[in-house]
Amino acid sequence: MPPAPRITVIGTGYLGATQAVCMAHLGFEVLAVDVDPGKIEALASGRLPFYEPGLDTLLVDTLATGRLRFSTDFDDAAAFGDVHFVCVGTPQSSGSDAADLRYVDAAFGELARRITGRALLVGKSTVPVGTADRLAAMVREMSPAGDALELAWNPEFLREGYAVDDTLRPDRLVFGVTSAWAERMLREVFAPLVADGVPVVVADPATAELVKVAANSFLATKISFINAMAEVCEAAGADVSLLAKALSYDDRIGGRFLKPGLGFGGGCLPKDIRAFRARAEELGVSAAVTFLHEVDQINLRRRSRTVDLVRELADGELQGVRVAALGAAFKPDSDDVRDAPALDVARLLYLEGASVVVYDPQANANAHRAYPDLDYASSLAEAVNGADVVVLLTEWAEFVSADPEDMGVLVAHRRIVDGRSALDVENYRAAGWEYRALGRPAEVGVTRS
Ligand code: UDX
Repeated sequence: MPPAPRITVIGTGYLGATQAVCMAHLGFEVLAVDVDPGKIEALASGRLPFYEPGLDTLLVDTLATGRLRFSTDFDDAAAFGDVHFVCVGTPQSSGSDAADLRYVDAAFGELARRITGRALLVGKSTVPVGTADRLAAMVREMSPAGDALELAWNPEFLREGYAVDDTLRPDRLVFGVTSAWAERMLREVFAPLVADGVPVVVADPATAELVKVAANSFLATKISFINAMAEVCEAAGADVSLLAKALSYDDRIGGRFLKPGLGFGGGCLPKDIRAFRARAEELGVSAAVTFLHEVDQINLRRRSRTVDLVRELADGELQGVRVAALGAAFKPDSDDVRDAPALDVARLLYLEGASVVVYDPQANANAHRAYPDLDYASSLAEAVNGADVVVLLTEWAEFVSADPEDMGVLVAHRRIVDGRSALDVENYRAAGWEYRALGRPAEVGVTRS
């Protein structure tokens, strides 16, 4: 049997670090490369530069096998790998909705000009459709390897908080390839997953690129759909939680990503739907995805509505009101505050004159870097102590399981806004709390469930 392909991973952010650790865990020799020496130093000594359940211990375990190594040098990467996964970020450009491709272009360029023999460059980053074709031409032009250096696209669908599981047991693998050899190489690299029954879709690179943005657009649309229904419920005096529950029993609709609340944020969904619209415009098909603008707007409106609810509970005036903001991360089990609805609401409350104290079990440090003006507590008890209104912004288990009676002893007023429809309304009411939630009538829970 020929030796297993050697793998490099370029970019050790969230996606790349997970990819490198999981590939080494599967038994491959892996070299992970990043231009940031701080990140490389941390990872090489077994420390994750971000919070991700399970990945920290897997990093330490795979380092101990000797199969996982780190470097800041592209020469090492070019010399080492048969298959190079490019996992660098594609942030939103400043001043436009388009994706900023400078890191992707740089990574492919740095590899291409150093690689001299047969190898496969595999893009995993989320990019505008057409990027792979453009990069393939660029790489062929600049590489001493010429046609022996091929390019493929293999989008990644991992969710923060489930990164290891989503990488080792993905719903599907998508191979965007232009040759039988490229497909063979990818099948070799992913053989352990395919053997476990993970389905593979083999496609052209453009389709592979589109699968990712289409999936994220669908998920964002589903969330905004239920949040649009929440707006209607608010006007009609109906209850969106019961509406969502009833819809979820229809197998064709399903209950996942149908949770009403403060909406989506993070480093992917918001920027990806915006970049998709920008790309569709370039392609002359903007009308096909105009609805994504509405999806974005519905999502953003939930933030101001949450502020409205806090203001209503504070008798119409936020100036000087002490608010306990529970959560800063864009979702639980993450320390990521990029485009976090939670932090945005905390900021809006602060701008209206409220005295806001934020507490997040993992994201306080990142939140403080983003918004140093807000106050941060180091525990739930400290955050709610003396609060006039408590607002749940990220549904961490610690918040959802908190005892309303224990919390009630600490606050100045038992008034809570449930921005994630995550709390047990009956318990809160029984403990004498005034409870308000997005998309639910003020008297929710009094008679129904
Ligand atoms: C997402 C995609 O799920 C993943 O496939 C892709 O690779 C990257 O983007 P992630 O950003 O980690 O993953 O978060 P996800 O779990 O999808 O949640 C996105 C946001 O939607 C969060 O802010 C979450 O709070 C919100 N959400 C999710 C809802 O508001 N309601 C829901 O029903 C589900």
